[in-house]
Amino acid sequence: MGDDYTSPQDNAILTILRTSEEVNNLKDVDTILDKILFESRRLSNADAGSIFLVEKNSLIFSYVQNDTLFKGESANAALYQNFAIPISEQSIVGYVAKTRQALTIDDAYELDATLPFSFNKSFDEKSGYRTTSMLTIPLIAQESRLVGVMQLINAKNDMGKSVPFSDEAKTYIPLFCNNASVAIERGIMNRELILRMMQMAELRDPTETGAHVQRVGAFCAEIYGTWASRRKYSAKDIKRGRDNLRLAAMLHDVGKVGISDTILKKPGKLNDEEFATIKMHTLWGARLFKNQTSELDRMSMEIALCHHEKFGGGGYPGVAPADVWKSDEQGTTPLSGEDIPLPARICAVADVYDALASPRSYKDPFPDEKCLGILEKDAGTHFDPEIVEIFHEIFDVIKAIRDKYKETPKE
Ligand SMILES: [Fe+2]
Ligand SMILES: [Fe+2]
Repeated sequence: MGDDYTSPQDNAILTILRTSEEVNNLKDVDTILDKILFESRRLSNADAGSIFLVEKNSLIFSYVQNDTLFKGESANAALYQNFAIPISEQSIVGYVAKTRQALTIDDAYELDATLPFSFNKSFDEKSGYRTTSMLTIPLIAQESRLVGVMQLINAKNDMGKSVPFSDEAKTYIPLFCNNASVAIERGIMNRELILRMMQMAELRDPTETGAHVQRVGAFCAEIYGTWASRRKYSAKDIKRGRDNLRLAAMLHDVGKVGISDTILKKPGKLNDEEFATIKMHTLWGARLFKNQTSELDRMSMEIALCHHEKFGGGGYPGVAPADVWKSDEQGTTPLSGEDIPLPARICAVADVYDALASPRSYKDPFPDEKCLGILEKDAGTHFDPEIVEIFHEIFDVIKAIRDKYKETPKE
């Protein structure tokens, strides 16, 4: 009674419980993967790690962290690599997916020749990294569905030297991963639900494709990450902001479900009345988030409402976020500068850039130089100049996102 002694084992379990709860509060699949990998690495003192998610019969490379090669919260093109590994015994992750058993390797370069899998050295050769110890764990959700595989690399001792993974790591991390897998599945479902909502808007406006909204969501998350790092926000706050912004930005044009095909698909120029109707997609979209129960709802409302406002003034609809439910009157409160909520200022740059860099029925995609030139020219009038500056700064990441979410041809 009253004994407040906690053993190291109890501590590990408490950490797992607390972290599982934090994971359960996240919504977007990328933020969930980031958190799970970060905490698993912390529990095992691993230098690096990646997560692969199952898609059909392959493992899709989905997330990476590496303390030696990449720095903390800064924007990182490596996150958007696109490659798949078959679920087969030839690779380490494939083997773990197939057998559904965790696998510990003390030195990837000293594998027994009788094992069915081999270590793929290409990443080490390209990056100059030296992989030694590995702990590879299947991610299994409810009803024994395999969601993916997590691979932790190079456990470190107190001196920073690579050592084999400890027995504690081998015991506790699979335990944590069982909880985490359920969160990953939920994150995937959230993303898919939003993509389905956007497919409805896409039926109206064919330029709002799934790939477009995924790109805009990812651009916004990366811009926000850099914006918030500049202001020295905590890693936790940055993750939460990115998590919400990514999903909210995907919904920027959801209000287009309310506009008729005759207007949205009209060839040629719109008359004044038709254009006034198009502009209503901002207010109609914002009103979908009437019952604001979360930060995500608030951000989704601000973005839907204000993504066509201009930094120097003169955008639309000119309705303050507080007046969304008042009337259909546009232009009652002209917005400019920082009256426009930050998420909307970020989304304006991301959305316009993506339209410039994508093909349209009347134009080919513009080359990078031309797109950046237009953003630059309109910084201060249409766009928040700091957001344009950040966009430039992280342009290699922007390009990696574009490569990852390419348009898939319609069946
Ligand atoms: Fe829009
Ligand atoms: Fe858009």
